[in-house]
Amino acid sequence: MDTIVVDHPLARARLSTMRDARTDNATFRAALRELTLMLIYEATRSAPLAEDRIHTPVSRTVAYRLETPPVLVPVLRAGLGMADAALDLVPEAQMGFVGMARDETTHEPVPYMESLPESLVGRPVFVLDPMLATGGSMVHTVELLTRRGADDVTVVCALCAPEGVQRLKEADLPIRMVTASIDERLNDSAFIVPGLGDAGDRQFGSV
Ligand code: PRP
Repeated sequence: MDTIVVDHPLARARLSTMRDARTDNATFRAALRELTLMLIYEATRSAPLAEDRIHTPVSRTVAYRLETPPVLVPVLRAGLGMADAALDLVPEAQMGFVGMARDETTHEPVPYMESLPESLVGRPVFVLDPMLATGGSMVHTVELLTRRGADDVTVVCALCAPEGVQRLKEADLPIRMVTASIDERLNDSAFIVPGLGDAGDRQFGSV
């Protein structure tokens, strides 16, 4: 699995704001939004382009656009905080939605919503979720996508645990990953260490 770690000073600064336990919900949402812009910028770096001929006010030249814009799939609830920023950077993208909550005792993913295009054949898909912990939610989400024909999936996460990255590597799925950090480990509650807590709660308050 290709893994891109966006190790940029601005990314580190925004991620530090998100990690800080003193950061309030509104500031956390703003930092996640800004970090998402950087992650999507890197995720689209090698996107194929289509060419047109246009006229500037001065002469003819070549114009470029994304050949096949991605389908953006935020994983509810926490991935919602990445959706607007991703759509701002790739306004021609379509969106699908997956709802997935992790059982707090078993740490297994519990799917509760799926709203996706009927076919994802030939379409790049960007899955948006701030956190990859055990990787269970992401493996389940990507399986939903591959059942609809997706074979080019980019997992976009603010931060990951090495255990989750390993699980994605071992799953036989067509994935690459873009993240701002691979942290140290998971703790006994399957929380990322040092991590940032629960990205859904940090954005929206606890439920
Ligand atoms: C978090 C996170 C991922 C998942 C990661 O969501 O946003 O979806 O847990 O854990 P995993 O890699 O071990 O599966 P959570 O279940 O807290 O739901 P929420 O987005 O509604 O807060």
